[in-house]
Amino acid sequence: MIHARGIEVSFGSVKALDGVDLLVADGEVRALLGPNGAGKTTLVSVLTTLLTPTAGTAVIDGFDVCNQPNEVRSRIGLAGQYAAVDNLLTGRENLEIVGRLYQLPKAVAKKRASEALERLSLTDAGDRLVRTYSGGMRRRLDLGASLVGRPKVLVLDEPTTGLDPRTRIELWEFLRELVDEGATVLLTTQYLEEADELADEISVIESGRVIAEGTADELKQRMGGDVLVAAPVDRNSLIALCEIVATVTGNEARLTDSGSVSAPVNNKVDSLVRVAAELDRAGIELAEIAIQRPSLDDVFLSLTGDAPTVEES
Ligand SMILES: Nc1ncnc2c1ncn2[C@@H]1O[C@H](COP(=O)(O)OP(=O)(O)OP(=O)(O)O)[C@@H](O)[C@H]1O
Ligand SMILES: [Mg+2]
Repeated sequence: MIHARGIEVSFGSVKALDGVDLLVADGEVRALLGPNGAGKTTLVSVLTTLLTPTAGTAVIDGFDVCNQPNEVRSRIGLAGQYAAVDNLLTGRENLEIVGRLYQLPKAVAKKRASEALERLSLTDAGDRLVRTYSGGMRRRLDLGASLVGRPKVLVLDEPTTGLDPRTRIELWEFLRELVDEGATVLLTTQYLEEADELADEISVIESGRVIAEGTADELKQRMGGDVLVAAPVDRNSLIALCEIVATVTGNEARLTDSGSVSAPVNNKVDSLVRVAAELDRAGIELAEIAIQRPSLDDVFLSLTGDAPTVEES
């Protein structure tokens, strides 16, 4: 459904995309996972005909984004990174206008607008001016607008950024419904959890290149299996703990946000016993020690090289 090859985009001396290939099957949910500035929005702009690439080709449902932009536009829906809704209209009017822009007859546009409001729990607010909406309501309305044309391909640029956890989960459920109805979805995200939750396949993008691709499980496998996680009672012992874990496991140990240390392990039980013994000897008391499957965070950090090593820490 989406076939991009060798996409390059330069902004002056900045190479935002540096040869991106992307193949997404009909009915697939693909996550583009990457940090700030990776090139996610730039790729989305190329695929949705908003930006002409410096090199490469992209085809959506058989139509070329550069040479057949109108054909492409009639098949896609886009919810951009920043909600593009009109503050001076009501939510319902916003959706009806989008429907008319998709060249739907007036009655159909009205019906689709009502349906979208209903599905995104905005019916009660539908006849209020959008400038009275909260950030999350705007986001949902913007998403609604991308659905009005019943697109075959839905492109969502960070759809849940800024949403509270409950709304995010509601949105995930909603996206699953759309996919069950046959839509192909390309979504960008910085949330590993989101990619893990929704996507069939994940493309990890950094510095304008796809640096890894696969299912969440496949990416986790690349980490070589399990991870030892240990947390000291006294946070001042973190660095010493980090050094011991790195020495015993022979792998890079990293500090997590929650005040623990994690490192890949090859030999689970042996590593656990030896780390515990070494810590005992060093007089470091543990609050927790466990063997876990790697999270997508571990994978991402190891792929992008952003994990702080012992030395940096
Ligand atoms: N119009 C522009 N002019 C100049 N540079 C740009 C422009 N748009 C994007 N860039 C640069 O291209 C790179 C990729 O930007 P892009 O917006 O695609 O990243 P992103 O992955 O969407 O990041 P974020 O997670 O912050 O939204 C960045 O270095 C950015 O500064
Ligand atoms: Mg972006």
